[in-house]
Amino acid sequence: MTRILIIGATSMIAEHTARLWGNKDVEFVLIAKDAKKLAGVAADLEVRTGAKTEQIIMDFTSPKEVKATMARVFKQQVDTALIAQGVLTRQKDAKETSVIFDSVAINAASPAMFAECIATGFEAQGFGRCGIIGSVAGERGRGDLYIYGASKAFLEKFVEGLNNRFNSKKIRFMIIKPGPVATPMISPGTQMAAITAKPETVAKIIVRGLANGKRKVFAPKFWSLIAFIMRSMPAFVFDRVKI
Ligand SMILES: NC(=O)c1ccc[n+]([C@@H]2O[C@H](COP(=O)([O-])OP(=O)(O)OC[C@H]3O[C@@H](n4cnc5c(N)ncnc54)[C@H](OP(=O)(O)O)[C@@H]3O)[C@@H](O)[C@H]2O)c1
Repeated sequence: MTRILIIGATSMIAEHTARLWGNKDVEFVLIAKDAKKLAGVAADLEVRTGAKTEQIIMDFTSPKEVKATMARVFKQQVDTALIAQGVLTRQKDAKETSVIFDSVAINAASPAMFAECIATGFEAQGFGRCGIIGSVAGERGRGDLYIYGASKAFLEKFVEGLNNRFNSKKIRFMIIKPGPVATPMISPGTQMAAITAKPETVAKIIVRGLANGKRKVFAPKFWSLIAFIMRSMPAFVFDRVKI
């Protein structure tokens, strides 16, 4: 039996990833904040794939709850994990300091707490792979999106540090860097169809990347070139271009 842990299991990208992983020899541990929504996702996954599911509802930003829940989950082995929670905070909506705090809590602190607990669990069992969903928004600080972008950049460095700590393909963390994806996170009409990926496409890249022990994947891959160009632009050029 393969045991797969999904944190932020009601995310549309996570849901599509789970559908690819699921079969009758898989047991999912699904964690989310909304019981009703999670029950729907779990039921759908069981019917589609024949996998078993365990559902956990919790507060994602509570250090105590994260520690206790992960300790409980790791009483049995965890083969693969995915950390998917996030909220798209635009600067125009972030004038209140509390919005900044809440955004960083769910986009950076929460995934970091889960990842650190997962690292402890993997270290004890001697193996495991974990994907964390970052974003191409983490490449450069953008005027309309820098709280979100900075949080995603933090996750990339966090993953880099974890891989440097373990330096082993047996224990591997992978940062996933999607461009825009057609999910509830981006409101309809705000996305450019030509560069917006389907969640199914991102899911395939996640599954393949973790199976191959990658440290970083762009989703879709063409974002690696755009990200390279963005990183290479001198600040005086970048500040004039609204990407
Ligand atoms: N869609 C994109 O264009 C895009 C691009 C790059 C990166 N990403 C990243 O991809 C990941 C998955 O997002 P998605 O596109 O699949 O969007 P989504 O379907 O809206 O999923 C967002 C997930 O985050 C959870 N979440 C938000 N705030 C939370 C909180 N305070 N506590 C616990 N869970 C919370 C949501 O839970 P509920 O369902 O209960 O609300 C949901 O499971 C995110 O990390 C996002 O930043 C998305």
